[in-house]
Amino acid sequence: MANVAVIGSQWGDEGKGKIVDWLSSRADVVVRFQGGHNAGHTLVIDGITYKLHLLPSGIVRRSKLSVIGNGVVIDPWALQKEIETIRAQGVEVNPQKLVISESATLILPVHPMLDEAMERARGNDPIGTTKRGIGPAYEDKIARRGVRVCDLRDPESLKGKLEKMMFHHNALLRGFGEKEVSVDEIHAQLMEVAPEILQYAGVVWRVLDEARKAGKKILFEGAQGMMLDVDHGTYPFVTSSNMHAAQAATGSGMGPDAVGFVLGITKAYTTRVGSGPFPTELEDADGQRLGEQGHEFGTTTGRKRRCGWFDAALVRQTVTISGITGIALTKIDVLDGFKTIKICIGYELDGKQIDYIPASSAEQARLKPVYEEFEGWDGTTNGAKSWAELPAQAVKYVKRIEELIGCPVTLLSTSPERDDTILMQDPFHA
Ligand code: GDP
Ligand code: IMO
Ligand code: MG
Repeated sequence: MANVAVIGSQWGDEGKGKIVDWLSSRADVVVRFQGGHNAGHTLVIDGITYKLHLLPSGIVRRSKLSVIGNGVVIDPWALQKEIETIRAQGVEVNPQKLVISESATLILPVHPMLDEAMERARGNDPIGTTKRGIGPAYEDKIARRGVRVCDLRDPESLKGKLEKMMFHHNALLRGFGEKEVSVDEIHAQLMEVAPEILQYAGVVWRVLDEARKAGKKILFEGAQGMMLDVDHGTYPFVTSSNMHAAQAATGSGMGPDAVGFVLGITKAYTTRVGSGPFPTELEDADGQRLGEQGHEFGTTTGRKRRCGWFDAALVRQTVTISGITGIALTKIDVLDGFKTIKICIGYELDGKQIDYIPASSAEQARLKPVYEEFEGWDGTTNGAKSWAELPAQAVKYVKRIEELIGCPVTLLSTSPERDDTILMQDPFHA
């Protein structure tokens, strides 16, 4: 029996929330290990939609433990609001169901301010961040001036930490021509929210170790996608964390052998929110149609997602780098009705053929996709619950993707609904 790490294999929004929710019936613990409320994970259960940003997708199930690991950056006010919203939808949240790592870094009100100011300073070349303060909070963590969940327990020393942090940031804010932030004000705001957050604070590495020793199954829920990974993505148009499967261990406090099966969530076409290179992007009627049929609007910011054909060279690369064992192919139903579907099998760069995405941003921007054309299918895949219900040509599309990316399809998703899912191989028993 293996634990399972779910990670995005493209630029995020592949349908991780739906798959984690579906798989969580087979798990005991669901763990978020990186990112923050830049993530937007959508679950649809019997027609009711739940949107989660910081809370693990296991939270909707009564008997599962949800864990937020040390690798996550937590905006305490956003978390508080999300807990209220999900409670209003009838989901129970209490300290028996939710544990937050006491070493997780906090996003403070100054971080979204800096995120905005830095985006503005980038002028015509912004990253297109979610402006949630994710990057500036991770910067503080690495610079060793971050404020963590455990600091909320000690108001006196918290004040000293805030003074040191704001000494740095107020200089920066002055430089940007922004208003300075008062330490007393942040301190008072934190003291107000502290009891709400501290009731969930715990020693996550120990909780997970005990779960593991008791034979419980752990499901790690990645946010974003490998092309947004700060090391392996389309840098600098990335987020500020690693979503590589190894981060599931680092970001929760377990050894690397705790992660067994790596499930790469993969959309049957490609989308991206924010700026940066996107070789298979379509700015024509096909792109428009993918966006409309796929309802491609951001769960967190509501921004229109850029759409394009499936990029097999890109997914082959992320499968290799992250050690993806099998993929969950999602949103195949969005391709219903297309007469011709294209698959990118490699690129042309300055007149030469290459089969991978190079590290240089300038080179990435010059990549021209090389396509293989694929005949579409009659009939629909929408809502299919078994392989036998799929049109033969759709099955061929899935098989071709497997061949091109060098990795098996473990799960197939055919609608946003939880149960419209076809299982080829149980990742917990692979
Ligand atoms: P995540 O960030 O990876 O969790 O993905 P998002 O929730 O941001 O975006 C995926 C969107 O696609 C959501 O609206 C899901 O409800 C929806 N979705 C997931 N799987 C499928 C599928 O197989 N078919 C269709 N049509 N929609 C899906
Ligand atoms: P889920 O988990 C898609 C993108 C932003 C921007 C870049 C940096 O729902 O798949 P940030 O605010 O993180 O500094 O922004 O990363 N981005 C996402 N795109 N899905 C996400 O999460 C994303 N989280 C961040 O659009 O381009
Ligand atoms: Mg999303």
